[in-house]
Amino acid sequence: MAGKKVDLSVDFCVIKFENPFLLSSSPVSNSAEMVAKAFEAGWSGVAYKTLNSDRVRIVHPSPRMNPYHYGSKRLVGLQNVEQISDRSLKDNLLDFLYLKKNYPDKIIISSIMGFSNEEWAYLAKASEDNGADMLELNFSCPHMTIEGSGHKVGQANHLIEKFTETVKKAVSIPVLAKMTPNITDMTEPALFAKQGGADAIAAINTVRGISQIGLDDWTARPKVAGIGAISGTSGPAVKPIGLRFIADLAKCEQLGLPLSGQGGIETWIDALEYLLLGSTTVQVTTGIIHYGYRIVEEMIEGLSDYMVERDIERVADLIGKALPTLQDTDKFDLESQGVASYDLDRCVGCGQCLIVCNDSAGQALEWDSQLRRPRLIEDKCLSCMVCSFVCPVSGLISYKPQPSDWQRRETAVMGEQLEAELKLAAFK
Ligand SMILES: Cc1cc2nc3c(=O)[nH]c(=O)nc-3n(C[C@H](O)[C@H](O)[C@H](O)COP(=O)(O)O)c2cc1C
Repeated sequence: MAGKKVDLSVDFCVIKFENPFLLSSSPVSNSAEMVAKAFEAGWSGVAYKTLNSDRVRIVHPSPRMNPYHYGSKRLVGLQNVEQISDRSLKDNLLDFLYLKKNYPDKIIISSIMGFSNEEWAYLAKASEDNGADMLELNFSCPHMTIEGSGHKVGQANHLIEKFTETVKKAVSIPVLAKMTPNITDMTEPALFAKQGGADAIAAINTVRGISQIGLDDWTARPKVAGIGAISGTSGPAVKPIGLRFIADLAKCEQLGLPLSGQGGIETWIDALEYLLLGSTTVQVTTGIIHYGYRIVEEMIEGLSDYMVERDIERVADLIGKALPTLQDTDKFDLESQGVASYDLDRCVGCGQCLIVCNDSAGQALEWDSQLRRPRLIEDKCLSCMVCSFVCPVSGLISYKPQPSDWQRRETAVMGEQLEAELKLAAFK
């Protein structure tokens, strides 16, 4: 790929980012020392760890995180009960000044959370006065120990509007509203944020969840002095939820605001999926907790190579490209049917496809015990493709469309002899 250059920069709320990759607000963006390292690695900006005004003393529960391992796969998710910054406002603002002085082209987004109208305005102004390029209003932490804060604000539309309006009046820099995924429809609170003057929406914060119960002590993790709690889940486990909310927001014409997507991004492919669904920038925490700041190098390289291969010059040209084909399920053409297709020359004869087809699909496979190969009875195949999900050989089983007059065989009815015993009241 050497030689060809692509433009990874994006304009987000009239601010230029050298690439779409940002640190999200969390322990990975907790001090200038850390953020400087991340900037050196290639991140274009930071949503800094949510500031506290010092009015309330923040103490983090201990321990504050727990890993969600699944089988041999480590950290498919992360559980946390961390609060907003426990550092003083002064120390954090001095860090902003340091970062702006030493990295003038990198973008500082100050994440803030107030506990009153005045406090939102105060934190906003203090951030702007000390070098923040943008603000992110944290309406979404799902486990604040202080009553009435965090995602409870994110579920109260009038408060979202009021606090956004307050902040907008206090500053002239762009304002993002960071939304909670712990609701059904995010477009509604996002529209209230827009009403209050928000320039962009960031989503998602962590999803309320429980990912582990101790089997010896029957207590959810992390266990804090004997107590468990429903807390924030992040990482790859929540990526489908993040993508779904970004798509909902991007498709909402009435909203029409730029988006900063996050939730489970670890690779350039994850990031690209968020861009394709309408995010202009993407933010990362758990991927960095797992692998370190240098994952951004692979993100930059992977996205650049993808663009060179497809002759796409600007990353901006990828934003929202998956939206036109994203429709409601009632738009599916049900006349279009297909079956699984097997490239048996590459089959290793493990038989996993047979088990899955027998136990969860159409009973469409027979086993040739001499050849040690599956044989597909096409008209029994449900085209669910679960056989391809368990097949260890990539691409061996693919989807094959069938002609329009093709008929799937009906499933056998086992209880035919029992018709006399059937109890079925007339449907009115
Ligand atoms: C330990 C931890 C602390 C976090 N603290 C904050 C915070 O102070 N403010 C905030 O807006 N989001 C906070 N988040 C949420 C992240 O910014 C991010 O929205 C979420 O983790 C989803 O992204 P990920 O899957 O890349 O981690 C925190 C997440 C974690 C894991």
